[in-house]
Amino acid sequence: MAQTQTPPSRMPLGAHAHAPDLPASDGHLVARALVMRYGSEPRRADERADGVAVDVPALGGVDLTIAAGESVAVMGPSGSGKTTLLHVLAGILQPTGGQVLWSGRDLARLGDAERTRLRREDFGFVFQQGMLLPELPAVENVALPLMLARTRRSKAVARATALFEPLGLAGLERRRPGELSGGQAQRVAIARALVGRPGVVFADEPTGALDQVTSAEVMRHLTSLTAHTGASLVVVTHDENVAAWCSRIVRMRDGRIESAEVRA
Ligand SMILES: Nc1ncnc2c1ncn2[C@@H]1O[C@H](COP(=O)(O)OP(=O)(O)OP(=O)(O)O)[C@@H](O)[C@H]1O
Ligand SMILES: [Mg+2]
Repeated sequence: MAQTQTPPSRMPLGAHAHAPDLPASDGHLVARALVMRYGSEPRRADERADGVAVDVPALGGVDLTIAAGESVAVMGPSGSGKTTLLHVLAGILQPTGGQVLWSGRDLARLGDAERTRLRREDFGFVFQQGMLLPELPAVENVALPLMLARTRRSKAVARATALFEPLGLAGLERRRPGELSGGQAQRVAIARALVGRPGVVFADEPTGALDQVTSAEVMRHLTSLTAHTGASLVVVTHDENVAAWCSRIVRMRDGRIESAEVRA
């Protein structure tokens, strides 16, 4: 269907469309002055025009506010800090400096158990290769996060099954990942990310292994389902066509946000 290949048209909106500093309450994800230096990272030094070497950390002071229900594409050259930013926002990596606030709570101030619970229940993840368990049928892959969170098996499977139809996967519930196409497997991974009804879905190059048509199909499902559930979406991508599905594009360079563009 040709229609599935193009994102809905976006109208440029006025400055009121996105306030860069929304309050940190009601489910917003806020990053303040994030700095990340990896312990083992060889210091990268860039030369300024005047010949002075400048240290370049993986993140060099990133401010970003993601509103509830907003979809943000993070773009930028390889090594610019996109994955690092995603992992810091998701509480997977502890930043060297700065803060991440989720619903007004500073991730660094949470205990390990609480941070783990939050990652499991409030955040969903989609990776470049779905990372599905090959021996489990698709529906059980989707139900797994709920079962790990001690939801009853029948309830977990019922909730997982309910996601197959809206993702265009009806009838594929019992297939194992090896019996699915790349795009189908990636939609199963999206179902798994959404099954716990997270407040934010993080996706790192979710279409990196897919062709253009399949990528568009995956993005259509990802953006429509997150919009439907009110989840925010943060997508790292190299592909402008993928980014075009998001309401905002943030461009990184050398660990900093170079520019941000509101698309809708
Ligand atoms: N675990 C690590 N240890 C040391 N340095 C790291 C580590 N992970 C990333 N880096 C460095 O941090 C910088 C940012 O890396 P990052 O993975 O965030 O980039 P990226 O924008 O996601 O790149 P790509 O598009 O290639 O995935 C790079 O200079 C990288 O070498
Ligand atoms: Mg990366």
